[in-house]
Amino acid sequence: MNDFEFYNPVKILFGKDQLSKINELIPAEKNIMLLYGGGSIKKNGVYDGIINALAGRDIIEFRGIESNPAYETCMKAVDIIKKEKVNFLLAAGGGSVIDATKFIGAAVLLEDGDPWDILAKGKEVEGSLPLADILTLPATGTEMNKNAVISRSSTREKFSFSSPYSFPKFSVLLPEAAASLPARQVANGVVDAFVHVIEQYLTYPVNAPLQDRIAEAILITLVEEGPKAYDNPANYEAMANLMWSASMALNGIIEAGVPDDWSVHTIGHELTALHGIDHARTLAIVLPGIWRVLKEEKMDKLMQYGERVWNITEGSKDERVDKAISKTVEFFESLGIKTRFSDYDIPAETIDRIVERFKKRGWRTGLGDRKLVTLPVVRKVLEERL
Ligand code: NZQ
Ligand code: ZN
Repeated sequence: MNDFEFYNPVKILFGKDQLSKINELIPAEKNIMLLYGGGSIKKNGVYDGIINALAGRDIIEFRGIESNPAYETCMKAVDIIKKEKVNFLLAAGGGSVIDATKFIGAAVLLEDGDPWDILAKGKEVEGSLPLADILTLPATGTEMNKNAVISRSSTREKFSFSSPYSFPKFSVLLPEAAASLPARQVANGVVDAFVHVIEQYLTYPVNAPLQDRIAEAILITLVEEGPKAYDNPANYEAMANLMWSASMALNGIIEAGVPDDWSVHTIGHELTALHGIDHARTLAIVLPGIWRVLKEEKMDKLMQYGERVWNITEGSKDERVDKAISKTVEFFESLGIKTRFSDYDIPAETIDRIVERFKKRGWRTGLGDRKLVTLPVVRKVLEERL
């Protein structure tokens, strides 16, 4: 096992009767900004639940955070926060609203320089306004981690940042609120969480059997419970299991002491930035390509994955790995998530654009667990997905 530090201070309130507790968790003197998206929280009762729980408190609302949240929108919130002396941020909705809130919290406290540099140049975050969230969409894990992903509409770029200041003070996880999700978003959630586990598990063995088995348990739970939640988002038990699996997939536990990869995400972000494709769908496109191109290098873990997640125990190594890959693709497609460029009308020229963008960013080494995903490998991976 590799050396590691582990720190996760996020208080989780999970289940049916949790919203009423938020009043005690936000100090009385705070001026709260409630941030949300296009209005799903108004339809599913979450907005009313929050307003009732915080009756009598000072609340300013910031509505309209879009999916793949835009830097430009975040900066509008930053201006209002500075003018109105807001000092507590409460996000309600999916990963986009929570990520935007993390970025806004950090941008407000930046003393000098351009907040965009936090995303594009890795400029250090100097602090954050305290933030918390009410989660209504199981997918990203942002409710229990310190990461955020923000897009810039004007340049069609998408970058992430990570800072310990950005951990939520608390997260309220509401499987009931997720009952109003369209099937497409449930499918996205299952696949995003699935690929989060894969990015931290399907690398190479370092003798970390506990991390491996936790990762496999999350994958198997997603395979079993994901389709139930997809078929009926009002199935509380299935949605609750999906929601907790998605948090566990990206809260640092399975990453401790093992290598991680993230090349699927880095390449996928470009497909969202250039073509507006949902985050999870970009991952479903890229992952099979990474596995096919790096089959030899990832052979040991692919074999273990096939055996423990899909019960594939027979055939040559090659046959077993091929079967594991096709089982995964079938799983994604059973949730209505297509896996090829042609399914999304992405032109082949996109491959050149992505490789060119990576080159311009001055890559010296490759992506992934052993830096194997060099520019020629990115090209091969994407060509495999046409
Ligand atoms: O805007 P509203 O009206 O709230 O509608 C949203 C949005 O249209 C809707 N929705 C959310 N909860 C709902 C609901 N509709 C009905 N009922 C509910 N209960 O769903 C739509 C999608 O929401 P969004 O927040 O965009 O989805 P998701 O949670 O999948 O977040 C995606 C974003 O997270 C980033 C992605 O890149 C993308 O920008 N990620 C963040 C990560 C992190 N911070 O750790 C890791 C991930 O890899 C990912 O990159
Ligand atoms: Zn993701």
